[in-house]
Amino acid sequence: MVRSILLSVSAALLLAAASTTAMAATTHWEFVDANQPQTKEFQPACGKQLRGVYEDLSIYAVPEECIIKSSMLPAEHMYSQLIVLERQHLEGDTPQDILDWNNSVQEAVADFATDDLVEESTGNQLPYSIFRGRRKFCRFTTVDLPDTQPKYRVLIGSNCAASEVPDLIDVLPSNTEILPVRTEGFVTPLAGLPSDHPIVLKSKNLKHRKSLQAVVDQVDVKTLEQDVTWLSGEATGSPFITRSSTSKQSHEVAAWLKSQFESYGCDTVELMSYQSRFGPNVICTFKGTEYPDEHVILGAHHDSRGSFLNPRAPGADDDGSGTSMLLQVARIIKANNLTFGRTFVISAFSGEEQGLFGSAALAKKLKSQGTTITMMVQGDMLAYRKPGEPIQVAFPARYHTAELSSLLHNVTELYVPEAVVGITGACCSDHQSFWEAGYPATAFFERNGPIADPKYHNSGDLVYREGYDFAQLRASTQAMLASAFEVAEAKLK
Ligand SMILES: *[C@@H]1O[C@H](CO)[C@@H](O)[C@H](O)[C@H]1NC(C)=O
Ligand SMILES: *[C@@H]1O[C@H](CO)[C@@H](O)[C@H](O)[C@H]1NC(C)=O
Ligand SMILES: *[C@@H]1O[C@H](CO)[C@@H](O)[C@H](O)[C@H]1NC(C)=O
Repeated sequence: MVRSILLSVSAALLLAAASTTAMAATTHWEFVDANQPQTKEFQPACGKQLRGVYEDLSIYAVPEECIIKSSMLPAEHMYSQLIVLERQHLEGDTPQDILDWNNSVQEAVADFATDDLVEESTGNQLPYSIFRGRRKFCRFTTVDLPDTQPKYRVLIGSNCAASEVPDLIDVLPSNTEILPVRTEGFVTPLAGLPSDHPIVLKSKNLKHRKSLQAVVDQVDVKTLEQDVTWLSGEATGSPFITRSSTSKQSHEVAAWLKSQFESYGCDTVELMSYQSRFGPNVICTFKGTEYPDEHVILGAHHDSRGSFLNPRAPGADDDGSGTSMLLQVARIIKANNLTFGRTFVISAFSGEEQGLFGSAALAKKLKSQGTTITMMVQGDMLAYRKPGEPIQVAFPARYHTAELSSLLHNVTELYVPEAVVGITGACCSDHQSFWEAGYPATAFFERNGPIADPKYHNSGDLVYREGYDFAQLRASTQAMLASAFEVAEAKLK
């Protein structure tokens, strides 16, 4: 699960965030034309809202020719571009956790951005600090929000290049979300699926089939464990210390996944590179026999994150669990020599933790090719079960296609009756890239309610620890396999 949702890679950085309600009393953001910043006029073209409301923040993206002006910053830094950092709420947060997080953010940004603290606020001014970046053109401004705001939110204004943002993410502590913003066009989520859409038609005719249950029951804990411990580096002989997108090992993980998918007989396996510093997406395709132009995409992300400043990023839950789910589905396809009516794509993304980069690249490519995507479904964090809680499957509360989540909810209840099915506010993952591009998309998560995994974005995100639960991972995998095979029209005996 990404803790950061961010801007896309475009030549120049351009993004901003503005809070309409809460911050209005103390500051306001204006969008101005960078070529004529003195005009101080609102340029409608500079106020494109890409992401809509994120909780209580309204998020805007700023086209390249625009920057924003903030009355919160001192005059010489008034024209700035913004990133909003927000802490991901975790179950059991204490005020001390929030303070610690704030301190780590401040340290991280200072460490990344500076040798020089240029200026700090004094007296009655809103608190801010201005650092001169180690990169010539990269300046950060951190601003603590006033008392009317939740204390754990920090804004960072920067005029860094977009290509530098992944670097920033790498130094930020856990549980920091970088809120948006993609800059390549508007978000175009579907208003609703048409009545003749395959997802809607399927909902009307959904019934339990023994032939599908028979393959669902083949999901196997032993091979899930082999795969996920190989990814996490816990299996004997596994070379992996980290699966961070920007590490050399990210390429090795991708190569290993490619060889696994090849052994499972995918028609094609592609390493899709989209950013030189990141390991590639790994995309296995089974070509459809009846409707080859209609794609069903099953996704997870192979990259991960560890603790702040810790090189170890085992990501057994986030998202080794989803990645092992993908391998399990491919294994079962091979074991049963299955074919599909629709083209079935299994995609292990990279760059998720840095802001859904890998999935955004694939969604963009498919969109530009005019590909029909019947559904995209992501599995991210599938294996943690809080002690005492039942096995669960949860769908997202936002950034998803409601009809699709509803169908897959019902598929889950039919084929995995022991799972309690519900909703989570945990956000965000690769399905969002497809949802934003106007495709039906949703995700599976391990828990109803917020993230409870205490090792989320932690170097202790290992398989062999309390709460990592193979019964939970098996149930999640079964629900996703049933969903994917149902919609892709697996040819079952
Ligand atoms: C956050 O950290 C900064 C710098 O260490 C500090 O000045 C500020 O008071 C902190 N804010 C909160 C809410 O703890
Ligand atoms: C899911 O099942 C419920 C209860 O049977 C039903 O009301 C609903 O229409 C179903 N939704 C879909 C999308 O199949
Ligand atoms: C697998 O399926 C293909 C296509 O349906 C068929 O041609 C082939 O004979 C099958 N192979 C086995 C080993 O069942």
